[in-house]
Amino acid sequence: MAEIAFRHVSKQYQNASQAAVDDVTFEVEKGETCMLLGTSGSGKTTLLRMVNRLIEPTSGEILIDGRDILKENPIELRRRMGYVIQQVGLFPHMTIAENIRVPEEISGGWTKQQMRARVDELLMLVGLDPTEYRSRYPRQLSGGQQQRVGLARALATNPAILLMDEPFGALDAITREHMQEELLNIQRGVRKTILFVTHDVEEAFRLGDKIAVMSEGQLMQVGSPIELLAHPANTFVSRLVGADNILRQLEYLPVTIAMVQELNPDAAPVSGEPPRCPSTATLLRAMLMLIEKNVTALSIYDEESGRIIGYITLSSINHEITKSGGRVKSETVVQ
Ligand SMILES: Nc1ncnc2c1ncn2[C@@H]1O[C@H](COP(=O)(O)OP(=O)(O)OP(=O)(O)O)[C@@H](O)[C@H]1O
Ligand SMILES: [Mg+2]
Repeated sequence: MAEIAFRHVSKQYQNASQAAVDDVTFEVEKGETCMLLGTSGSGKTTLLRMVNRLIEPTSGEILIDGRDILKENPIELRRRMGYVIQQVGLFPHMTIAENIRVPEEISGGWTKQQMRARVDELLMLVGLDPTEYRSRYPRQLSGGQQQRVGLARALATNPAILLMDEPFGALDAITREHMQEELLNIQRGVRKTILFVTHDVEEAFRLGDKIAVMSEGQLMQVGSPIELLAHPANTFVSRLVGADNILRQLEYLPVTIAMVQELNPDAAPVSGEPPRCPSTATLLRAMLMLIEKNVTALSIYDEESGRIIGYITLSSINHEITKSGGRVKSETVVQ
């Protein structure tokens, strides 16, 4: 069962000519990281904040674990979700440890000792040395360090769902990359269901199992990064994800997309099989292998069976990536 399900969700603000969120339907599975990607004003924050009922939908349903959230107590609901925003929102007059303890104190049932141990555990999880940072005040931390504390606080009561609204948006590129890496590391251990708002395509591709593309309140497409890149539903998605960006295609598309069944005699090696490349490799990895081994072709094998399933050559890669843009099947909006 989907952990979060949006069913025909709309939000019409008063005095607004257009719905901020317009009939959005999609699902996020348990343990999945779903990125909400779209231009400014496309309704991402509105959609996210409807999940913890900071905003109420005008129509439609949001189900969590199959239960309609509008039938739940909003305070109870929020306790089951971590919420991280760009402005962090730490309490300035409280130490880092006190800030992280807030959700635990609210939810109750924690002893002082348990809370102390949990604070240290969380600080280590987000890469801050507890002895150095637990007694400091927020103003004594850099922006990136404060953002880490915000993440630690959101994880404090071990919620199954994390809602994140451009949490790394204000950070410099290097710190942002560190934080993304950190989040991926955390996700490798304790898998949370994450709904993550961003307008940064690179971030969506790095972090997302799935990406929901929004434009003017409407959902344009939901799919894995590879699906969006290989089969954008319309020109908006194609432009946004850079389906014509050759480097991005090489980096994310699997080698199987450019595979051919037979080698033409010019590309075939003089004797024997070409070097082997696993079917799970990206086009970029295959290309580097071709250069490194100084060969004209690679044989692609299925990792489970070990069987050769096809071949790849520079010209088959080239053929695949130069036909991009032509992949958009229909100009009509899906969903
Ligand atoms: N409280 C409000 N009252 C009226 N209109 C609002 C309100 N909040 C947001 N809007 C409008 O709803 C639309 C969607 O806003 P939202 O904040 O959800 O966009 P967003 O995709 O998060 O944008 P950004 O990337 O700039 O944060 C915008 O046109 C915005 O002006
Ligand atoms: Mg927003």
